[in-house]
Amino acid sequence: MIPSYLQQIPHGKEKGTFLALDLGGTNLRVCEVELLGNSKWTMRQQKYKVSEALKVGEVTDLFDYIAGSVDHFLTEIGTNATEDEKLHLGFTFSFPVLQTALAAGTLINWTKGFECKNAIGKDVVQLLQDALDRKHIHVRCSALVNDTCGTLMAAAYERGDCLCGGIFGTGTNGAYVEDLAKLTKMGYSKEDLEQSKAQGLDFMVVNTEWGAFDNERKVLPFTVFDSRVDRISINPRKQAYEKMISGMYLGEVTRNVLLHLVDSQVLFSGYSTKALNAHYGLDTALMSALEAPFVPNSTESADPVKHIRSVLTSSLGFDDARVTDADCIAAARVSEIVGTRGARFAACAVAATVRQTGGDQADADGREMVFGLDGSLVEFYPRFEQRVRDALVELLGEDVTKRVKIVLAKDGSGVGAALCAQAAQAMETKGA
Ligand code: BG6
Ligand code: GLC
Repeated sequence: MIPSYLQQIPHGKEKGTFLALDLGGTNLRVCEVELLGNSKWTMRQQKYKVSEALKVGEVTDLFDYIAGSVDHFLTEIGTNATEDEKLHLGFTFSFPVLQTALAAGTLINWTKGFECKNAIGKDVVQLLQDALDRKHIHVRCSALVNDTCGTLMAAAYERGDCLCGGIFGTGTNGAYVEDLAKLTKMGYSKEDLEQSKAQGLDFMVVNTEWGAFDNERKVLPFTVFDSRVDRISINPRKQAYEKMISGMYLGEVTRNVLLHLVDSQVLFSGYSTKALNAHYGLDTALMSALEAPFVPNSTESADPVKHIRSVLTSSLGFDDARVTDADCIAAARVSEIVGTRGARFAACAVAATVRQTGGDQADADGREMVFGLDGSLVEFYPRFEQRVRDALVELLGEDVTKRVKIVLAKDGSGVGAALCAQAAQAMETKGA
C-alpha cells in the first residue's frame, strides 16, 4: 500500500500539452499528450523496445536509453508544446516505488522480468533527470506515477467519477482513492487532517501493489505448477498473486500443466516439443488462440479441433501425426482453466477495492463504481472481462456488480502522467 501523493482528481477541464514517458508495460512509450479541457485528449506517441539485456544491465544504461528515446521523439517527431509546457514531463514508472513526493520516489524492488543493477533504493526521478541532463535535453520530470494511478487519473478525466484504476497486463496492480485519515503510515496529526479537510485535500490515491499479495503463501491456494513458475522466475517468492493472474505468467503456468500431462502420458502420446520445453515457451497470447473456438460467435467455432490443431502445430511445433482430437480439446481446456482461475483471482482484487471504497454499502444505492482498466489481458484476452464479471457476481452479488462499470482506459497511463505533470505545473504557478 503506497501513498502516491496524488490529491487532485481530474475533473476534465484540465488543458495543456505535456510530455509523458511510460516504462513498465509491454513497450517503452514516449508521448505528447494534449489535454483539450473537455474530457478529451489527443496523443502522439512512439514506442521503443527495451531489450532483455537492458532489463538486467546497469540501471544508468537503461536510463540513458530512455533519455535517448525522449531525444529521438523530440528531434524526429517534434512537439507542439510551448517552451514552458515542454519543461514538464510526467513519468509513468510501473514498478513498486516508495514515493516521498509527487516527483520523488525510491525503487523498492523490480518486477516483471526487470532486474537492473544498482537501482534499488535510488530515486527514479533523479535517475531519469540525470540521464536527460547528460544529453542536454531541456525537459524536467515533474511527476512520477504508477500506471494504475495514471489509469485512474485518465479515466477520471474522461468520466469525471472514477475512484479505482487497475492494470491486467504484463503485471497486475490496482489503485484507489482513500480517506487521508485511514493512511496511518503517513503519520498525520489530528491538526494536519483537519487542515487537509478544510482545503478539500482529505483523500489520496493509493497504489496497492496487489501483485505482491500473499508472498508469505498463507492465503492463496497455490498448486505445484505455481511453485514451478515461481522457483525459476527472476524474482522467486515475490509477486505471488501477480504470478497467478498476469500476462507475463499465465502462459508459463499453462505450459507447466501441459508438460505435466505429457510426462504423465496423458497428452500427445508422451511427446513434448522444443517450444513447450522452453522457459516462457508458451506465450500468453497463444491462450487466446487456443480458446478462440469457444468464444461465442467466433469464426473458429465451426471446427474447433482443426483450429486448435493448427495452433499446436504452427506455434508449439507439434507433429500433426502425434496430435489426437482429444489432445486438442484437452490443451484448450487446460488454457481455459488457467485463464479462468486468473480472471477469478483478478475479480477478488476488484471486489476488495469496491468494498474498501464503500461501493457495496447500502447507502451507495444506485451509485456507479467506475473502474478504469488497462493492459493486454483486458484488451486482447477474449472472455477475460466476462470471467471477471461472473466472479464479481459471486463475490459481491448481482446488484452491486451491476453498478461496477469497467471502463477500458486504453493507453490511459500516458494521459494520467500528463495530468500529473499538469498538476505539478499548476502547483508551481500557484507557488510563484
Ligand atoms: C499501457 C499503459 O497501455 O498498458 C502502461 O500505457 C501499462 O502504462 C500497460 O503499464 C499495461 O499493459 P501491458 O499489457 O502493456 O503490460
Ligand atoms: C507490477 C508492478 C506494478 C505495476 C503492475 C502493472 O505489479 O510492480 O507497479 O503497476 O506491474 O504494470
